[in-house]
Amino acid sequence: MIWSGLIECGSKRRSRARRIVAITLGLAVGMGLTGSYAEVNQPVFPSARGDQCVEPVDVMRRDHFEFLKHQRDKTVHEGIRTPRHSLAGCIDCHADKDPQGRFLPVNAKGQFCQSCHVYTAVKIDCFSCHAARPSERVSQSP
Ligand code: HEC
Ligand code: HEC
Ligand code: HEC
Repeated sequence: MIWSGLIECGSKRRSRARRIVAITLGLAVGMGLTGSYAEVNQPVFPSARGDQCVEPVDVMRRDHFEFLKHQRDKTVHEGIRTPRHSLAGCIDCHADKDPQGRFLPVNAKGQFCQSCHVYTAVKIDCFSCHAARPSERVSQSP
């Protein structure tokens, strides 16, 4: 259902790429490549915590990296810290847990950031410096 939204969603610019992603991911799940999901009808990546994203979902699909880069420049170059587009915030809401209740890194196989990027051949180096899962303090909350 997430992916049908993805296919229909706005931007003409990337819609073809998205359709390819959707189809590829659908096949991947069908073939059981994302082994952590028992049912093929599960969303391809884990759903997020919270009621909504920091921007409308279609905007996030299209422009999330612009927000991140802008936020990084603000913080690193100007020393301005705001929570709205913080990378740590993305991780807090989008990291899933394993069956033991421990957070999984968002860049691990089948996880939120990775599952989408792997099929679009997007490589990000962010997590060589930034934590890919919420801090322990957060992980103790439900
Ligand atoms: C070489 C290490 C390094 C890499 C690689 C890196 N960052 Fe950062 N990033 C930093 C440091 C250091 C800060 C400043 C941290 C602070 O002062 O809070 C920062 C701050 C940020 C911030 C602002 C703080 C926040 O959480 O909102 C964002 C957003 C951000 N980086 C995004 C990214 C993204 C996206 C990537 C990958 C494309 C990336 N960074 C790759 C080191 C790195
Ligand atoms: C307060 C929690 C929260 C924060 C913080 C957050 N998100 Fe989200 N995000 C959501 C929810 C809820 C959705 C709706 C889809 C879902 O339920 O999984 C979503 C959807 C998305 C989607 C679309 C996924 C799809 O279905 O195709 C992307 C991409 C995304 N977020 C990226 C980010 C990035 C990047 C950040 C950090 C800048 C971020 N999010 C911060 C909660 C959050
Ligand atoms: C719905 C699929 C999807 C999800 C989920 C997703 N991304 Fe992306 N991301 C993309 C696509 C597609 C691109 C490439 C867009 C382009 O270049 O046109 C991209 C590009 C990026 C880039 C820029 C890479 C570059 O080389 O400039 C960053 C940074 C990034 N994503 C961070 C994240 C983070 C962090 C998360 C998880 C919190 C995330 N993305 C989740 C689809 C996704």
